[in-house]
Amino acid sequence: MSAPSVAEDAEFVRLNEADIPDICSLDDAHEGNGWTESQVLASMTGPGGVAYGLKVGGVPVAFALFTRVLSEAELLNFGVSVRLRRRQLASRLLRSSLRELADGGTTSVHLEVRVSNIAAQALYAGFGFEQTGRRRGYYPAEVGREDALLLTLPWLEPGLGTG
Ligand SMILES: CC(C)(COP(=O)(O)OP(=O)(O)OC[C@H]1O[C@@H](n2cnc3c(N)ncnc32)[C@H](O)[C@@H]1OP(=O)(O)O)[C@@H](O)C(=O)NCCC(=O)NCCS
Repeated sequence: MSAPSVAEDAEFVRLNEADIPDICSLDDAHEGNGWTESQVLASMTGPGGVAYGLKVGGVPVAFALFTRVLSEAELLNFGVSVRLRRRQLASRLLRSSLRELADGGTTSVHLEVRVSNIAAQALYAGFGFEQTGRRRGYYPAEVGREDALLLTLPWLEPGLGTG
């Protein structure tokens, strides 16, 4: 029998304020657009805020920050530890988060992603997200500014698979 993968082994949890320093140390590893601890706190404690994550050995290795309004949710920030990428952690976290959201009454999910972020776009496409718009020059870039693609997952149902 083969050993369980990191993604299978990781524990899916609801993250809370005590996890914020770990979330930010993961987020800082991104392409220079990490959130501060106060931004993460505001997203968790603001109206409709909810944070999910995967932990390995009790330490967060991936996070997903959402806000919910009525039946809609927005994915505000999302990331996986640089050292654990391409091991299906993002897929596992997104699948489990969408299931929780659907069970809580969310029926559609929106997000914004940089045009240059091919990895995230491929991930979201695999979940059925569709492009619904584009914001010109929305993000600061190394040189000038960069467009955001607006993506929507139009229909979630309770009882989505497991994971
Ligand atoms: C995007 C990100 C979350 C993907 O995390 P991950 O755990 O490596 O992704 P997974 O291993 O679950 O990959 C799932 C799918 O995503 C896509 N994908 C992930 N990384 C990719 C890459 N470097 N290039 C192309 N596609 C990629 C693939 O379709 C992959 O499916 P496959 O393994 O069958 O090919 C991660 O690269 C990250 O944290 N990036 C920085 C933060 C970020 O961009 N967040 C999203 C903001 S909108």
